[in-house]
Parts: sequence; structure tokens; C-alpha cells
Amino acid sequence: MVKEHDNLDSHGEQTLSLRLRVWRQSRGTTGHFEDHALAAVPTSASFLEMMDMLNEQLIKEGKDTFAFDHDCREGICGMCSMTINGMPHGPLPGVTTCQLHMRNFRDGEMITVEPWRAKAFPVIKDLAVNRSAFDKVIQAGGFITVRTGSATEANNTLIPKPVADEAMDAAECIGCGACVASCKNGSAMLFVGAKINHLNILPQGQPERERRTLAMVKTMDDAGFGNCTNYGECQAHCPKSITLDVIAKLNRDYLRARVKEFFSSTGKPRKGGD
Ligand code: SF4
Ligand code: FES
Repeated sequence: MVKEHDNLDSHGEQTLSLRLRVWRQSRGTTGHFEDHALAAVPTSASFLEMMDMLNEQLIKEGKDTFAFDHDCREGICGMCSMTINGMPHGPLPGVTTCQLHMRNFRDGEMITVEPWRAKAFPVIKDLAVNRSAFDKVIQAGGFITVRTGSATEANNTLIPKPVADEAMDAAECIGCGACVASCKNGSAMLFVGAKINHLNILPQGQPERERRTLAMVKTMDDAGFGNCTNYGECQAHCPKSITLDVIAKLNRDYLRARVKEFFSSTGKPRKGGD
């Protein structure tokens, strides 16, 4: 996207001059955009490194820096929650904010940076939001029961390759929250679907399968996330390319768990005796 121009740094690398419109908000206030100009941004810099440059400039000017979350800067932790030009994690598909590079922007471009916008993710400060609602969903069922002590022989539990692959695909979810931020309903179904599918299809996840599904869905609803109406934006903005399939499978498992719960509560014997 970068055009050939004369902006070269001392290493001969192309640089950008940018206009940045960044969200500023303190707890208890409604927030507003602040405009800043930033020059000499190397095209090899990551988006977070560009934000670091902006904060260094603000420190030199004696102004308050912008708060934003980050940790691994390697696309693993899911902390870098920024909406860039209206798109969670920016314009590139399958990429987190920390792995987005400035060569994907134009010299002189105006870039708008906002926090995740979702009722269940209240703003803490500026671009940092509180995603503890996700932690509560994981606490409700994101675990399996295992015997402690010496590790079991791996080959004792054989898992067909397609099942292992599907579980690993779901396990790629890094809990970033872009699915929620991109959904007009603020739905967390892609995240919860990924977490439930990861465990529910493996043999180790069977003992808590129904309890896990019911508890995670209830916690999701209680946390204020919206319902899924198959809008599909979550899939488009997920940096780990989690697909809507996990939502269909979540719905199937939820129905199965509710039916089992119903027959358990009526005391009637179930087919198969389980
Ligand atoms: S499903 Fe994708 S967008 Fe949603 S939390 Fe997981 S990695 Fe992030
Ligand atoms: S900082 Fe960890 S995924 Fe972006």
C-alpha cells in the first residue's frame, strides 16, 4: 500500500507521516477523539510500535499518553484490542493488531484508533477495555477433570486425526474479543463456540460435556453479550480464522445438553442408560 516517496530514514527505509485520531477516555467519562500528527514512522514498524512512538512524542510534549493493552506482540496472547479504521485488528484478515505493519498504510493517511466497542467490555482507559467477562466464561467450563499424579501414557487415549485437527483449530482462539467488537449484537458466540468445541469433541472433555456447555452459555448470557443472528462479522475479523461452524456446533451441543438436563430432572430413564 505504501507509495514510493522521498521519506527515507537514515537507514534508507521508507517512513510515513500520519494523522492519527485516537480515542481518549477516562473511567466515568463519555470519551472523545484526539487528533495527533506523527512523522518518520518506519514502514517496518508494527502498529503497536507506531503507538509507542506516539506515546514517546506525547511524553516529550508533557502530555498524557494513550493507554492500550499488549503483552506478547506475537499474535498469541490476544491483548492488543484496537479497532483500526473501524475494523477490529485493522484491515488485514487473520492478523492481530500487534502483527499488523505500517507498510499496510499510506503516507499522509488519517488512521482512526478506537477501543473495542461492546457493552460487556467497558472501557478502563483510552484503548484499554475490561475483558474479564471472557475470564468468567472460561472459569465456568474451560477445563477438564484429570487424575493428578504421574502422566498417563499418551497412546492410552487414541484420538482420530480429524478430531484432533478440529480440536486444535478451535484451540487457536486467543480470546482477543474481536468477534464481540465486530458484531452489531455484541455476541460472544464465536469465542464461546471455539472454547466449547475445543473440549467437547475430545475424549478428555466428555465427563463435563453437558455441564460445561450449559455453564458457559449461561455465564455468557449473564455477562451481557448479545445473541448471534448470523451476521458473520465475527468470522471476518477473527485473527485466528475461527469459522461460524463452531457456533453451529455450540448450538447443537446446547440443545443436546438441555434435552439431557430435562430428562435428568424428570427422573425418567434415558435410552442407553446414561
Ligand atoms: S474467536 Fe477469534 S476473534 Fe473471537 S476471541 Fe477467539 S480469536 Fe478472538
Ligand atoms: S499483543 Fe499478544 S496477540 Fe497482540
